[in-house]
Amino acid sequence: MPLGLSGRSRGVGAISTRTMGNGQTTMKTKKASFAALLLLSGIAFGVATSAQGAAAAAEPAPAPGLGTQYSESGADTCLQCHPDATPFPQLLQIFKTKHGVRADKRTPFAAGGLQCEACHGPGAKHAESTSKDAINSFKNTSFLSPEERNKFCLNCHRGNARTGWHASTHESNNVACSNCHKIHADRDPVLATATQADVCYNCHKKQRADFNKPSVHPVRFGRIACNECHSPHGSSAQALLAKPTVNQTCYTCHAEKRGPFLWEHAPAAEDCTLCHTAHGSVYRSLLRKNAPLLCQQCHTVAGHPAVARTGAALPGGTAGASGFLLAGSCMNCHSQVHGSNHPSGVKLMR
Ligand code: HEC
Ligand code: HEC
Ligand code: HEC
Ligand code: HEC
Ligand code: HEC
Ligand code: HEC
Ligand code: HEC
Ligand code: HEC
Ligand code: HEC
Ligand code: HEC
Repeated sequence: MPLGLSGRSRGVGAISTRTMGNGQTTMKTKKASFAALLLLSGIAFGVATSAQGAAAAAEPAPAPGLGTQYSESGADTCLQCHPDATPFPQLLQIFKTKHGVRADKRTPFAAGGLQCEACHGPGAKHAESTSKDAINSFKNTSFLSPEERNKFCLNCHRGNARTGWHASTHESNNVACSNCHKIHADRDPVLATATQADVCYNCHKKQRADFNKPSVHPVRFGRIACNECHSPHGSSAQALLAKPTVNQTCYTCHAEKRGPFLWEHAPAAEDCTLCHTAHGSVYRSLLRKNAPLLCQQCHTVAGHPAVARTGAALPGGTAGASGFLLAGSCMNCHSQVHGSNHPSGVKLMR
């Protein structure tokens, strides 16, 4: 434990930050003594001590370069030099977020918490030198690796939702928590359906293009979010899917395609993406290709009966092809491409 009591004490109340009823936050940079604040805030010693104990247990191992000393008066120290709007207009909005709830003893700003330094690391050295190499900045230019930056977050966020983060695609590609999460913003864009995709598109340009195609899952209309199909923190399925398989992922919203069917169509039961793209397509119904080409990837002319007026040209869809292939193509007759429950639906025609 690198800290003396005076170092820790500022957590109990030395931050004279108050969130007003109207949501505005005011800062008083004047320091008050530990004891006085204890009395003012009415926090019993026993509780404060155990809260400190909890915070101490949750303390991140400081990264090399940051030093081990926490600043003397916590957020007050920081806010002397980082007072307000400029150059980081969102700074004080953190007090409108869940992290700023002082009554929740798990948050950085709860009594005994490390406050700003819970995420930015021990800041005494930085407060003296103002060197940015002595503070965890979360910028991509930080001297700390993404893994080292993430440790501060994981220190408190080890719960269920984080299972799978380690060795996940994002972790092993050096993505930081702060690449997706805005901590000082009163509303974190990645948590809202309407604004989430833009966060992902910062890195996933191809997917942005896909979701602008004519047939799409309605992400750009704010009706569905990436995280309804993907677990961005990690999953054991391919492509960070939210469910173990592609089909199970699709069934969460398209339950009627699950069956069970009397007559299954093998590819539909196996993998929806044999025929559909998940994000967007230039063909209708998110199809990879239009029929008949779609079907002809797997079915040949061989064996197809010469249905009246269809002739041998049927599966070719070339010049002289049947009028039956116009418009609905193969689905004019085989309308039940996902499977049929009709007693005589074996050929997926009803
Ligand atoms: C004595 C004034 C002073 C104090 C006290 C201070 N800072 Fe700073 N801080 C600065 C200056 C100046 C910079 C800009 C450094 C630069 O750009 O080289 C800075 C930069 C930063 C940055 C951004 C680093 C980057 O990569 O651009 C963060 C984050 C930060 N401070 C957090 C804190 C925290 C947290 C505390 C409290 C523990 C704190 N500061 C206390 C002066 C201070
Ligand atoms: C000192 C502990 C602590 C640290 C450090 C911490 N958090 Fe949190 N975080 C919390 C608590 C407590 C909550 C509120 C949880 C709840 O209400 O269920 C929370 C909530 C969140 C939420 C959900 C916000 C919402 O509006 O639902 C996100 C996202 C989050 N934290 C990300 C991060 C990231 C990213 C970092 C690192 C930059 C981080 N946290 C560091 C304790 C911490
Ligand atoms: C690729 C983007 C991305 C990265 C990287 C990321 N998150 Fe998230 N996070 C999200 C999205 C999207 C949600 C909302 C949907 C959900 O809960 O899965 C979320 C939700 C959360 C929540 C609140 C809901 C919950 O599950 O408890 C917390 C806390 C959180 N993230 C913490 C973290 C931490 C800590 C890290 C780094 C280890 C991290 N996130 C990295 C995208 C990301
Ligand atoms: C829960 C973790 C957390 C806490 C607590 C926290 N910060 Fe931050 N801070 C971040 C993250 C992550 C960023 C990157 C920008 C963002 O996510 O909004 C950041 C960005 C900053 C920056 C700007 C660096 C830049 O990108 O220009 C400054 C300055 C800063 N924080 C200071 C503070 C001060 C002062 C406090 C205490 C009042 C504080 N932070 C509390 C996580 C935190
Ligand atoms: C900071 C950049 C960054 C952000 C932001 C980001 N990702 Fe990624 N993501 C990556 C990298 C790098 C990879 C691995 C290389 C690749 O597959 O492109 C990846 C891979 C993926 C994969 C494929 C995993 C696989 O195994 O094929 C999915 C799915 C994914 N990200 C979803 C998301 C979602 C959803 C969001 C927004 C909530 C998001 N990403 C935000 C960088 C990012
Ligand atoms: C309707 C479900 C669904 C939604 C919504 C969705 N995805 Fe996907 N995504 C998938 C499936 C399924 C795959 C696997 C595709 C495959 O195997 O052919 C995938 C694959 C990916 C991949 C891996 C590379 C690729 O394109 O195959 C990335 C990256 C990705 N998605 C990012 C995103 C982002 C970013 C969003 C939100 C803007 C998003 N996804 C929304 C279902 C979805
Ligand atoms: C989170 C819910 C959700 C999940 C999961 C989901 N979808 Fe969808 N799907 C929708 C919504 C919403 C629509 C749009 C319906 C509308 O516009 O009325 C849609 C539409 C479609 C369409 C018709 C598109 C069009 O242009 O008419 C297809 C095909 C489709 N989804 C296939 C899939 C496949 C394949 C998967 C699995 C990779 C999947 N869906 C997963 C919600 C979902
Ligand atoms: C063999 C190719 C094929 C497979 C595999 C397939 N589909 Fe389809 N799907 C189609 C075709 C073709 C259409 C267009 C039907 C039409 O226009 O009559 C379609 C249309 C849809 C539609 C929109 C119209 C409707 O029926 O609601 C949804 C949703 C859909 N499919 C979901 C799925 C899901 C979920 C899976 C996986 C369980 C899946 N599809 C597997 C070929 C396929
Ligand atoms: C990815 C390969 C694939 C695609 C694409 C595909 N099918 Fe199939 N289809 C199969 C398989 C495999 C069977 C099962 C064959 C068997 O049981 O002998 C099947 C069975 C059928 C049957 C029933 C045949 C029988 O003997 O019971 C019909 C009808 C059919 N498909 C029509 C279509 C139509 C129409 C399309 C285009 C919308 C299509 N298929 C696309 C693979 C595919
Ligand atoms: C005019 C209606 C019609 C159209 C259009 C049509 N089919 Fe058929 N298809 C049939 C009939 C009728 C059968 C035989 C049903 C039976 O034997 O009970 C059949 C049987 C099949 C079979 C099963 C063959 C077997 O060995 O039992 C497949 C596969 C098939 N069609 C695929 C296709 C594909 C692919 C297309 C589009 C290129 C297509 N059909 C277009 C009417 C049609």
